[in-house]
Amino acid sequence: MSERFDEAYWEQRYRGHGPGHRREPNPYLVAAVADRAPGVALDAGCGEGAEAGWLAARGWRVTAVDIAATALRHAREHATALGPDVADRIDWVRADLTGWTPPAQRYDLVCAHYVHPATDGPDLLRRLAAAVAPGGTLLVVGHAPSPANPAAGATVEEATAVLDAGRWEVQLAEARSRTAAGHHGHDVTLHDTVVRARRRP
Ligand SMILES: C[S@@+](CC[C@H](N)C(=O)[O-])C[C@H]1O[C@@H](n2cnc3c(N)ncnc32)[C@H](O)[C@@H]1O
Repeated sequence: MSERFDEAYWEQRYRGHGPGHRREPNPYLVAAVADRAPGVALDAGCGEGAEAGWLAARGWRVTAVDIAATALRHAREHATALGPDVADRIDWVRADLTGWTPPAQRYDLVCAHYVHPATDGPDLLRRLAAAVAPGGTLLVVGHAPSPANPAAGATVEEATAVLDAGRWEVQLAEARSRTAAGHHGHDVTLHDTVVRARRRP
């Protein structure tokens, strides 16, 4: 990878613009919680909080973690705009996920969308998986590696490798493509890896 996706990189990205408009939550998250009662969630690498805000608006209590202070500031502003009750349900945590261990088996949902830290990929996945409560869901969405960018993210196989079959029911483990609204008003095609698994009760 030619760039280092470290704190300075992300801070520069988020400082380049204001809070901007809210975007829709990730569709794989929407599908994952569609039939779930609200519980306690961890959004790892929450960025500007589209998923955390969406979950909180549906009654989830969310811990949202990111390395970039500016992203968290924007995220907090978005959540406040959704209403004080929504904002109150989110704890924003500035932390480097490569050195941060969430409480074990604490969350009904642990999600990470497009978080590709400069180091520590499989270990991070292991720590996130360890934070899922019995019966809870782990959702990891990433950029699929491509010929143009082979190091973009984890393959489905790499992501599922950290999940012990005796403890996890893998519900979805696929490379998928979807169309989303791009930054400049036209649609873009995204190639994702999606892993969704339930920790056996
Ligand atoms: C591509 S953005 C995705 C943000 C959001 N999840 C979304 O889907 O829009 C990646 C996010 O991960 C965060 N991030 C990257 N490395 C991190 C690390 N080591 N610890 C915590 N957050 C990190 C970045 O600051 C950024 O907000």
